[in-house]
Amino acid sequence: MRNPVRVAVVGLGYWGPNLVRNLAELDAAELVAICDLDRDRLAAVGRRYPAVRTTTDFEDIVADTEIEAVLVATPVSTHTELGLAAIESGKHVFIEKPLASSTAEGLKLAEAARKASVLIMPGHTFLYSPPVRTIHKLLVAGELGDVLSISSSRVNLGLHQTDVSVVWDLAPHDFSILQFWLGETPTHVSAIARACIVPSLPDVAFINLEYESGAIAHVELSWLAPSKLRRTTIVGSKKMVVYDDTSNEPVRVFDSGVMPREPSTFGEYRLTYRAGDILSPAIDAVEPLSLQLRDFCTSIREGTTPRSSIAVGLEVVRLMEAVDRSLASNGGRVAVGRLPIGADDALKGHSVGVGSPAAAPAPGVGERAASRRQKSPRVAAES
Ligand SMILES: NC(=O)c1ccc[n+]([C@@H]2O[C@H](COP(=O)([O-])OP(=O)(O)OC[C@H]3O[C@@H](n4cnc5c(N)ncnc54)[C@H](O)[C@@H]3O)[C@@H](O)[C@H]2O)c1
Repeated sequence: MRNPVRVAVVGLGYWGPNLVRNLAELDAAELVAICDLDRDRLAAVGRRYPAVRTTTDFEDIVADTEIEAVLVATPVSTHTELGLAAIESGKHVFIEKPLASSTAEGLKLAEAARKASVLIMPGHTFLYSPPVRTIHKLLVAGELGDVLSISSSRVNLGLHQTDVSVVWDLAPHDFSILQFWLGETPTHVSAIARACIVPSLPDVAFINLEYESGAIAHVELSWLAPSKLRRTTIVGSKKMVVYDDTSNEPVRVFDSGVMPREPSTFGEYRLTYRAGDILSPAIDAVEPLSLQLRDFCTSIREGTTPRSSIAVGLEVVRLMEAVDRSLASNGGRVAVGRLPIGADDALKGHSVGVGSPAAAPAPGVGERAASRRQKSPRVAAES
């Protein structure tokens, strides 16, 4: 890119260094500064990038007029405060998932970004994952038929977070993927969870989701499992898919299903089982994070809406709030509901591009969602 976006990364714990590494390699970005409260972490990352400015004080980042965009990879409880400060200083912001600790905070960020005409983008990395995109294409093409059910396991031993439950840590991945694949938000959720190790901090959760289309999904999340599982099964009316993110063949399409034959007598169903070929599509070997950060920079320069949009970020937060309501009612089935009144205003006019006067104005998030729905009533088309 001829005019790279001058960026700073805040938060250099587990995840931040991955952002730094990808940004340093990206032609669309120029890494200007890094920031962490922890001097040792700052020094460790800084040693690898000697030309990059380092600071323990976020105020230095906010005050630095050379910096156009700030990437926030700090704990969730700090996202809103740091995000707002960056936006109010006129900088674009990328905020690691989940966008904020509540819908109210997420809307505050959206509204501030709209007023300041800057881009705000949540970091839903899996929306850029080649296997996830391959499955999306299969869904859009109707290869799987109607989605009947989806079940997902995202479990490992750790990492226990200190400020959020396993739901707020891991569910953003599954919820953003499901939103992308199905193009709809669940109407109802129910969930049970248990805090096995740290009191009051659930480390295992089982979540059920119901969709208006009739699809149902189950998401299993845990920091307390003997080995790493990242496995999702999608059962369609025509074909089925197993997506295993830890496998060399991450997507396998099963030409399998069950066909009811004409009942011979009333109430008696005779079924035909089909177990045909298993196909393993070729998947691009690209790091999703690199694609995501390129999308961030391109969206800033060209005024387009990133795939991981503020609308997706808010839907994910809203769903996690619904999960928390279900947990508070001992696993009760709760309605997800709608975004609060006034949310449309906060979402209007996002992705205002700067540095690219020729760029056509980006569609509002709502308009983009509407045009997606027109392409396919059930599955969001590839955008
Ligand atoms: N996209 C993904 O796949 C992915 C994966 C892991 C984590 N994450 C997200 O990244 C974020 C960070 O997670 P983590 O596991 O790296 O956390 P972490 O606790 O390992 O690191 C957070 C870092 O932020 C620093 N920090 C906190 N407040 C600060 C402030 N005010 N100014 C400067 N530095 C500050 C801390 O010193 C620490 O080094 C979370 O939102 C998490 O959900 C995303």
